[in-house]
Amino acid sequence: MDNRVYIFDTTLRDGEQVPGCQLNTVEKIQVAKQLEALGVDVIEAGFPVSSPGDFNSVVEISKAVTWPTICALTRAVEKDIDAAAEALKFAKHKRIHTGIGTSDSHIKYKFNSTREEIIERAVKAVKYARRYVDDVEFYCEDAGRTDNDYLARVVEAVIKAGATVVNIPDTNGYCLPADFGAKIKYLFDHVDGIDNAIISTHCHNDLGMATANTMAGVLNGARQIEVTINGIGERAGNTSLEECAMIMKCHHDLGLVTNINTQKIYPTSRMVSSLMNMPVQPNKAIVGRNAFAHSSGIHQDGVLKNKSTYEIMDPHDVGIDDNSIVLTARSGRAALKHRLAVLGVNLEGERLDKTYEKFLELADKKKEINDDDLLILGGVDIKENHHLKLDFLQVTSGVGVRPVASVGVDIAGEKFEAAATGNGPVDASINALKQIIKRHMTIKEFTIQSINKGSDDTCKVHMQVEHEGRIYYGFSANTDIVSASVEAYIDCINKFVRK
Ligand code: KIV
Ligand code: ZN
Repeated sequence: MDNRVYIFDTTLRDGEQVPGCQLNTVEKIQVAKQLEALGVDVIEAGFPVSSPGDFNSVVEISKAVTWPTICALTRAVEKDIDAAAEALKFAKHKRIHTGIGTSDSHIKYKFNSTREEIIERAVKAVKYARRYVDDVEFYCEDAGRTDNDYLARVVEAVIKAGATVVNIPDTNGYCLPADFGAKIKYLFDHVDGIDNAIISTHCHNDLGMATANTMAGVLNGARQIEVTINGIGERAGNTSLEECAMIMKCHHDLGLVTNINTQKIYPTSRMVSSLMNMPVQPNKAIVGRNAFAHSSGIHQDGVLKNKSTYEIMDPHDVGIDDNSIVLTARSGRAALKHRLAVLGVNLEGERLDKTYEKFLELADKKKEINDDDLLILGGVDIKENHHLKLDFLQVTSGVGVRPVASVGVDIAGEKFEAAATGNGPVDASINALKQIIKRHMTIKEFTIQSINKGSDDTCKVHMQVEHEGRIYYGFSANTDIVSASVEAYIDCINKFVRK
C-alpha cells in the first residue's frame, strides 16, 4: 500500500462553524494561502449553498490558491451540488464533497427513510456530482455509529458510482481507537473495488480521541485524514493537523509520509488562533505555549545535558524559533511588512499604513513587539467604520476606594458620556456603558489572557454577551486590561447595535 497520507484541511469549513470564529473572505484567503505554504493537499473552503458569504469565499479561495485541491461541501441534494460546482469554477484542482447520514439514528430521525433509500440517494448524488467534476468525495455521516456491514454496502455503492474518495467520519467523536481502526479494516476486507478510492478519516474530539482514532484509521489503511489547525471545530473540535503531522514525522519507522512542511506549523497555528479569536490552550500538544517548556528541575537538568532526554521532537521542526525577530518603536514599515509576511500576513497600501500606526501606538507602550503581538495587529480589522467607538475611558480603582469609571463613546457620529461605579474597574466601565446603550445584555463568558510574559505584555480579551436570546462574540487586545475588556464588550455591541 502507498504510504503517502493526504492531508485534507477543513479549518475553513468545519473549523469555521464554531460560533464566534467566523472569518471574512479576506481573512479566509489569508488562511488558505498559509495552508498552501504549509503543504496541505486539500483545502475544504466552505459549504457554498449555505450562504452567499460561503459561496463567495469558495470562489475567491479558488482564485487565490494554486497547488492544493479546493473542496466544497454539499448535502446529497442537487441544488447543493449545483452551487458547489459553480463556486469551484475557478479552482485549478477541484473536488465536490457530498454525502448523507448512514447511521440508523440519522436514517430514521433525520431522514425518516430506510437503508435502501439512503444508498439510492447516495449513488444519485455521486453520479450527479461526477457530471461536474472528476474528483468526488462521499461522506457517510455518523459512520462511527453506522453498522459495519451496512457501511461496507454504502462505500461499495458510491465507489461504483464514481466516488474517488470515501470519508468515514466519526461525527460525534464516539468511537474507541481500536473500534475505529477495526471499522476501516472491515471496509478494506469487505468492499469490492475499495482500491479504486482513497479512504478518509474525519474524527471529532468529543471524548478526546480524535487524533488516536485518526491514527488508528491510518494504521488500518486510510490514506487521507481530515483535520484542522489547532484542532478547532464544533463542540470539542476536530482532529488536529499538527498532532497527526508530527506523529507521522516522529514515528518515521511507520514509513508514513505527508507533504507538510512542519516548520510552518507554529506560524500557521498562531495565525489561525489570532484571526479566529480562538486562544490555544497552553498545554495543547505541539503548539501550546507550554508544549516545549520544561519547568521541573530534573527535566531542565536533563535537557541541558542532552535534549533527547525529555524532548521527542525539536521545537525548530514545528517552526518555534527561539531567535524570532523582535520589533521596537524604531522598526520601520518595511521591517513590519517583512515580519508579517514571514508570519503569512501580507499587507499592502492602506491596511499596511493602518497596521503600522497601530504598531507604533503599541510600541510606545511596550518595548518589544513579538510575533504574537504582530499577528494580533495584522488580524485586527480596521475599526474606523464601526457604528459604536470608544472615545475615552477613565477609571479610578484601588484599595479603599469605590471603583468609578467615566466613558465617552461615539455612536454613528453622535457623542455620549456617562459615569458609574462598580465592584471593580471593568464592572464600573461596563455599568457606565450600559447607561448609554440602554439595552439588556448579560456577559456569558469573559476571558483575559496574556500573550507572553512581563507586566508590559499585551492581553487578549474574549467575551460572549447575550442580548435578546442571542449570543454575540467580541475580542480585543491591549496593554491595558480594563481598556481591552471594554473594547471587547463594545465589539460585541457592534455586532447587534445597528438593528
Ligand atoms: O463531522 C462530519 O460528519 C462532517 C461531515 C459533513 C463530513 O463534518
Ligand atoms: Zn465534521
